[in-house]
Amino acid sequence: MKALLCTGPGKPEDLTVADLPDPMAGPGEAVVRVEAAALNFFDLLIIAGKYQYKPAFPFSPGAEFAGTIESLGVGVSGFAAGDRVIGYSGWGAARQKLAIPTKRLVKMPAGLDADKASGLIVTYGTSYYALKQRGALKRGETLAVLGASGGTGLAAVELGKIMGARVIACASADEKLAFAREHGADHGVNYATRNLRDELKALGGEHGIDVVYDPIGDKYAEPALRSLAWLGRYLVVGFAAGEIPRLPFNLMLLKGCDVRGVFWGSWTERDPDGHRENTADLMRWCAAGTISGHVHAAYPLTEAAQALNDIAGRKVMGKVVLKP
Ligand SMILES: NC(=O)c1ccc[n+]([C@@H]2O[C@H](COP(=O)([O-])OP(=O)(O)OC[C@H]3O[C@@H](n4cnc5c(N)ncnc54)[C@H](OP(=O)(O)O)[C@@H]3O)[C@@H](O)[C@H]2O)c1
Repeated sequence: MKALLCTGPGKPEDLTVADLPDPMAGPGEAVVRVEAAALNFFDLLIIAGKYQYKPAFPFSPGAEFAGTIESLGVGVSGFAAGDRVIGYSGWGAARQKLAIPTKRLVKMPAGLDADKASGLIVTYGTSYYALKQRGALKRGETLAVLGASGGTGLAAVELGKIMGARVIACASADEKLAFAREHGADHGVNYATRNLRDELKALGGEHGIDVVYDPIGDKYAEPALRSLAWLGRYLVVGFAAGEIPRLPFNLMLLKGCDVRGVFWGSWTERDPDGHRENTADLMRWCAAGTISGHVHAAYPLTEAAQALNDIAGRKVMGKVVLKP
């Protein structure tokens, strides 16, 4: 089988496609034939050796996938060969087949497109956990989403609307804001051309913004924090814009607000029941077409560098997927 391989810390151009023996399912595992492996911003960090997870080399990138179960190891119940599934592997999905514990798999709703389904678990899972468990977002509250056309950002926009919030999408281009509006956002702020703090203050009104969802950090964090309402919640999701921001503590004091960390991968391990419940909601909404799982582009394994450079170059709206 073909596998995309990262053989040492490096750039997207350093990835190679190699022939490997087919995997065998160990106890509790399934071998899945991968139809689509979705990429995330953090794949750039993993292949550079700069992410919190550091797999041993060589490994395949790709944290999430959709495919069909080909065979099962001993001790598996609830799954059968031929089942269509999606899964979270952390890394390792950008290959034609992978062996994975079945506890990391969820059956795919019937009729769902594999490309869209492949990108649901990480981005929607992170954003739903962030807004529900960490942000306690309530109906009628105002939510500002930074990086609103990206993978996690778009998911936060769509889920914020499902949860009954007024959603302000913030992004670096008018076409990205138009895209976020098509997916439910009520307002848009272009932080490349406008003053983020002033715009959020105006849209938040006297009350302010209840929840900020921030997957980008850097120079955008402090202006967004300054727009928060009394008892507002600031959700720290990621630092796609580069620097990890340092925030003045007096703002938390003056606003009585919270800055809350979001570490979805760790939470899925610590609270598997909560994770299962969240995933069930997401699958239901996905089957009903309430969440889009928008795919920007699909590439073969041989064009993985292009796919990852599109993410690095802020060109992607929604997700990019690889088709092994
Ligand atoms: N905490 C968790 O559990 C968790 C889970 C998943 C992902 N994450 C993190 O969340 C962050 C976003 O992930 P994602 O999958 O949503 O990424 P993405 O699809 O690439 O979107 C990131 C967005 O960041 C914005 N951005 C601003 N400056 C950028 C820069 N210099 N380079 C690239 N993008 C830039 C871009 O929007 P504009 O051009 O509009 O600014 C882009 O749409 C990453 O840091 C990732 O590691 C965290």
